[in-house]
Amino acid sequence: MTLDEFLLACQRLADDAPARIAVAASPSEFAEVRTQLVGRKQGRLADLMAQLAALPPEARRDAGRAVNEVKSRIEALLDEREALVAAAARGAAAQDLTMPARRRWRGSLHPVTLVIDEIAEIFRELGFTIALGPEAETEFYNFTSLNFPADHPAMELHDTLYLGDDTLLRTHTSPVQVRTLQQYAPPVRILAPGNVYRRDFFDATHAPSFMQLEGLAVDEGISFVDLKATLSEFARRFYGGTRRVRFGPSYFPFVEPGAQMDVEVDLGDGKGTRWVEILGCGMVHPNVLEAAGLDSERYTGWAFGMGPARIAMSRHGIPDIRILYDSDVRFLEQFAR
Ligand code: DAH
Repeated sequence: MTLDEFLLACQRLADDAPARIAVAASPSEFAEVRTQLVGRKQGRLADLMAQLAALPPEARRDAGRAVNEVKSRIEALLDEREALVAAAARGAAAQDLTMPARRRWRGSLHPVTLVIDEIAEIFRELGFTIALGPEAETEFYNFTSLNFPADHPAMELHDTLYLGDDTLLRTHTSPVQVRTLQQYAPPVRILAPGNVYRRDFFDATHAPSFMQLEGLAVDEGISFVDLKATLSEFARRFYGGTRRVRFGPSYFPFVEPGAQMDVEVDLGDGKGTRWVEILGCGMVHPNVLEAAGLDSERYTGWAFGMGPARIAMSRHGIPDIRILYDSDVRFLEQFAR
């Protein structure tokens, strides 16, 4: 054997050792690999030592140094791994097996989503289907077709987020009324949930983007009686059978007459019951029906719009709307079902 061959054999032993050591997991396995690799009487290092004596005398110094280096590297690795495995074993023995397992984390629906789903289910039973419209809307659908006069303050730049000359982020879900009536012939009964956008500050009671739920019923012979009966029935189902509701006059350009519906709620703050406005509503303005291409002499309808976030707040006694946007798991978890 030449010196080069000897050095190569040393290198090979050094290269093989880590993989062999990595699989040792018990004291007896460590003793075994230790013997195989660096045992004094047998094993690969012992073989190298035997060959060392057969090398020419001038090569022995380098060869000896190489073999010693490999030996101490392998021994260090063995000691390190063995200490690690022993420490892990001690840790395992010290584990408290009666400790409850860590709970598996499950996501849940957002409280506002839950409100929308629940309301959608009630209106589904009353014959309404879901309709959706775009969040980037035109002035025609968001304002003009809904009977907003050209100088209505809602159209101002400081109230509305414009995307271009004629396009904007819809300020309400009412444009879905006209889009639906253009697409489907009456009878129409739809519920339209979706995001809306306004230039509002983000404070305890306002958010620049929030959810709305729009409702629309159009057919021949629909009257204010249908509006009152349907919305009262909705309130009874949503809030409980004994809940009182009341209607009062209100104004929106796309309804005539316009109204608001209040529900008597107990927010659980010890102050007893109070009236809370939960939606705006009214009979669809003839101009809106005409803008959608319908004969307003033949068809009538009613509509409503509400903010499910407000409803979730009044239902759960949530004091600040911002918590609904915070993604704080400690808050959201409480609604997990
Ligand atoms: N679009 C109104 C808003 O954003 C809400 C509304 C009021 C919708 C009355 C309606 C309605 O359909 O009849 O404030």
